[in-house]
Amino acid sequence: MPSYTEEDLAKVLVTKEQIQSRVAQLGEELSAHYVGKDVTIVSVMSGALVFTADLIRVCNFATRLDNLRAESYGSKTSAANPPRITNPLKTGIQGRHVLVVDDILDSGNTLKAIIRHLEQASPLSLKTCVLLDKPARHEADFRADFKGFTIPDEFVVGYGLDFAERYRNLSCIGVLKENLQKAEAHA
Ligand code: IMP
Ligand code: MG
Repeated sequence: MPSYTEEDLAKVLVTKEQIQSRVAQLGEELSAHYVGKDVTIVSVMSGALVFTADLIRVCNFATRLDNLRAESYGSKTSAANPPRITNPLKTGIQGRHVLVVDDILDSGNTLKAIIRHLEQASPLSLKTCVLLDKPARHEADFRADFKGFTIPDEFVVGYGLDFAERYRNLSCIGVLKENLQKAEAHA
């Protein structure tokens, strides 16, 4: 039986301390890039919630916070099955600097669809920041402007990332034990 805690991890890929120190560095990179600017931070729900909460507190520039949700039919996105934006922004972004924050760049199809969607609103600038990047899985020709960690091709949970909505509350990022990587183990 899973415990839905760190005990379910076979290994930790990124520790809580590594996340904290990298998030602080990203705050410095973003603060240098956006010095004196007013930036709308668009957090992609729900995976980027935890990352965004930490990141905005190390951003030393004016921010607004908004969020959106992207959902695919079925469990996987693909170039032929791009996600739909199901929760539009509450704030206007025309003529504004926009930074999209997401948990992970996997195939890249989600962020690519989000960028296409937001571009239609004519922002002044549009950049992306992801906590994790899995280059082995990229399908879309898409690169993030800012990123936290490059990880190998493994399914990870924790720090906002889920398996069937579980494990988002872990403060590290890791790989589930093999017997827990299947939905039946969680039934
Ligand atoms: P993409 O469209 O394939 O880039 O998918 C991105 C979305 O899939 C992310 O925002 C995550 O919600 C989810 N995802 C991709 N890889 C992982 C993973 O290793 N763990 C948890 N969620 C993942
Ligand atoms: Mg997500």
